[in-house]
Amino acid sequence: MFLHIVLTGCLLASSHAASITSRSNSELSQRSPPSAPPSTIGPVAELTIVNRVIAPDGFERSATLAGGIFPGPLIKAQKHDNFSINVVNQLQDKSMPLSTSVHWHGIHQEKTNWADGTSFITQCPIPPNGSFLHQFSAPNQTGTYWYHSHFSTQYCDGLRGPLVIYDPDDPHKDLYDVDDESTVLTLSDWFHDPTTVLNKILGAVTDNSTLINGLGRYPGGPMSPLSVINVEQGKRYRFRILGLSCDASYNFTIDGHTMTIIEADGIETVPETVDTLPVFAGQRYSVVVHANQSVGNYWVRALPNIGNQSFADGLNQAILRYEGAPEEDPTSSPGPSVLPFNEASLASLMNIPAPGVPEIGKADVSINLVAGNVNGLFTINNVSYHSPPTPVLLQMLSGAQHPSDLLPIGSVYELPPNKVVEITLPNTGAAPGGPHPMHLHGHKFAVVRVAGNSTPNFVNPIWRDTVSMGTVGDNVTFRFVTDNAGPWFFHCHIDFHLNNGFAAVMAEARDQLPIVSASIPETWASLCPTDNPYTKSYGTFNTSLT
Ligand code: C2O
Repeated sequence: MFLHIVLTGCLLASSHAASITSRSNSELSQRSPPSAPPSTIGPVAELTIVNRVIAPDGFERSATLAGGIFPGPLIKAQKHDNFSINVVNQLQDKSMPLSTSVHWHGIHQEKTNWADGTSFITQCPIPPNGSFLHQFSAPNQTGTYWYHSHFSTQYCDGLRGPLVIYDPDDPHKDLYDVDDESTVLTLSDWFHDPTTVLNKILGAVTDNSTLINGLGRYPGGPMSPLSVINVEQGKRYRFRILGLSCDASYNFTIDGHTMTIIEADGIETVPETVDTLPVFAGQRYSVVVHANQSVGNYWVRALPNIGNQSFADGLNQAILRYEGAPEEDPTSSPGPSVLPFNEASLASLMNIPAPGVPEIGKADVSINLVAGNVNGLFTINNVSYHSPPTPVLLQMLSGAQHPSDLLPIGSVYELPPNKVVEITLPNTGAAPGGPHPMHLHGHKFAVVRVAGNSTPNFVNPIWRDTVSMGTVGDNVTFRFVTDNAGPWFFHCHIDFHLNNGFAAVMAEARDQLPIVSASIPETWASLCPTDNPYTKSYGTFNTSLT
């Protein structure tokens, strides 16, 4: 009865790049990294997960890091590349989780649900000293993505990094001159305590600092170096802005410069010029910035919606530095916003209409998901998500035959193949700590009704993979087609909310799972304990498929 399903129709690290450098401000001597791990890797790579003490904002803490750096190395691919990424778990700091799994946020994993990297949905976690090879392709996907731990709140301890699929035939390529490692800009919150401590806090968790390309400052802390983004006067830059946040959303601005949005979450958009850009946890944008101001230094600002909402002493900032400008802090001011962001005016460049009958409630399958909160645990349709003991994919493959058999009970929504699904997210205000950025794995979706606008748009909606639920009274609605078999996680991308149950599972096209099963490597099932009854029956099921 909780399932309201209506069937109506049948840094970038400082070493990253030639032109991004972190320079110490005059007060501090240069802190040079003890080693220089590679800051860019290809689609065929080993990604080693390690513990290391870092001080991105001047405060030393042990962190859980991809490739030993924060953010993790940029995974740089070209359109049509095949990915083969071996995640190697070398974690040993017992003050934080020792298991891991790595998710490739926004990559659809067509036919390869098993490689999605989502603990207890698509795989068992990788134990310490273990590894797991993810082999997948991303046909027809280009643009800006990221990867992060999908085990507990581990990405808040550091395991997050950018992933870009470059398109040699980018339809927007005439709009910019520079698009390389130096124009990838990550925004993230940073915590001085490990999440094992943070997760025990009842209520909202506050971060200590905002890091832009992995550098920042905290109130009362040292004048730690800030990121410097170097530009040349006259050139146009494609900045790829990534919300790698655990919680905070950012209002991103560059003093004295406008930004022309050309991509949202991997989807090319009709160019739209703004002077402020809201970036929620999990979201990405590409914007073109023309270095058309006088040679100088300009503040790059990421104002968080929570925590230290101040620009004093370089908080929440980085530096845009023109070639020829002195190496000093900017003295620029933000100026009034005259070109505000409006999600309703974003449209996909390829003009992809929303699938299905163009009326709210008239999709093949319409699901209303009401978010709430009971005693600190978040709920969707009154059910709080808890990780099941066995990954949902393994449950489905090993013969759980009836939808209601799938665990966790009440959190799994079984979806038929090749149907248009519509999800509505009425914001009743019952789920505190918003706006909540909702993310669906395995798909991009058409946002037919965005936050802040009650008029649906089925003609040229924005397609994306992470959407804000807005504020009380909003009813964000999106659609996608069930053309990708497997269980896909749907959750709030505020990691502490996910950890407190703000999630559900879309178990899609079960009868097409043999397509997924065909590419599952033997190493996949062996991530799970052998005494797990599902692992045993999976063996039988798997052989019966071949
Ligand atoms: Cu960015 Cu469930 O993920």
